[in-house]
Amino acid sequence: MTALLTLDHVSVEIGRSQLLDDVSLSLDRGEILGLVGESGSGKSLTALTIAGLLPLIGGRISAGTLRFDGTDMASLGAEGMRKLRGGRIGFVMQNPMTALDPVQRIGEQIDVVSRLHLGLSAPAARARTLDLLRQLRIAEAEAVAEAYPHQLSGGMKQRIVIAMALAGEPDLIIADEPTTALDVTVQAQIIQILTGLVRERGLALLLITHDMGVVAQACDRVAVLYAGRMAEERPVGALFDAPSHPYTRALIGCIPREGMEPGGLKGIPGAVPSASNFPEACRFHPRCALAIEPCRTERPALAPLSGGGQVACHRAEGRPR
Ligand SMILES: Nc1ncnc2c1ncn2[C@@H]1O[C@H](COP(=O)(O)OP(=O)(O)O)[C@@H](O)[C@H]1O
Ligand SMILES: [Mg+2]
Repeated sequence: MTALLTLDHVSVEIGRSQLLDDVSLSLDRGEILGLVGESGSGKSLTALTIAGLLPLIGGRISAGTLRFDGTDMASLGAEGMRKLRGGRIGFVMQNPMTALDPVQRIGEQIDVVSRLHLGLSAPAARARTLDLLRQLRIAEAEAVAEAYPHQLSGGMKQRIVIAMALAGEPDLIIADEPTTALDVTVQAQIIQILTGLVRERGLALLLITHDMGVVAQACDRVAVLYAGRMAEERPVGALFDAPSHPYTRALIGCIPREGMEPGGLKGIPGAVPSASNFPEACRFHPRCALAIEPCRTERPALAPLSGGGQVACHRAEGRPR
């Protein structure tokens, strides 16, 4: 069976900057793929690419192929992509505040999705909206539907944005940092709701986060991006048990653990380079404690790992010889 979504050696440019370089991913129905990496790694760009929204920010796919349910997305055109997005692909954007119209009632904003994408009548759309709100564990669904965004808490707004993504009966949900602005308890609830939907309905979920704790809790597989390239891609258990790429090891080392000294949360020294300053060969080498000469001169290819998955690193652990 072919995957629901595949990115095959996809590169993306904005102006003269190549911001994604040779990204390959696949996602099946019923599966949760985590996409991780520090801020500036290219996670949101990957999301916008899949949602067909690159033209909005002046970007374009410069190489590679995206397939959704067997169809080359390049063959769909702008109108076809618009139908897909909000329909079979639900997109939960990084900032719920920008996704909601401040002067329109919540119910109307959700209704419009199922009217447009499923062709429902106004009363049928509203019934569906209320049903969705209840599925997202909003008890006062009628009252919330009548409210304006500013009357709701951050956690509630995030649920509304998820309801909008679900309203068109998607097969795939892309959720870009859906819980970053929320407190820990609400964050856990939202993740639980999202994973529950995937398991119950067989949706596919691309869950973008920089929180490795969320990844461990929710994902089946994980792709690690660094400076617009794939560093490592693994089943979640293998990734945490035996991370192969030094960058992945550093990300996992950043998770706060019980018993850690205050201030013992060690970040990774340095920062993700911008496109104008991408280092030669391995882009991580200036920050990598294990770097050797080839890391400065030869780009590491993505190579298969013995327990499944792949890694791009000259110093990788667990590659078959
Ligand atoms: N609209 C844009 N124009 C130019 N550069 C951009 C734009 N959006 C993102 N970038 C650059 O692309 C890189 C990846 O950004 P992004 O995908 O937002 O990262 P992430 O979501 O992982 O934090 C960054 O270097 C960022 O500066
Ligand atoms: Mg982002």
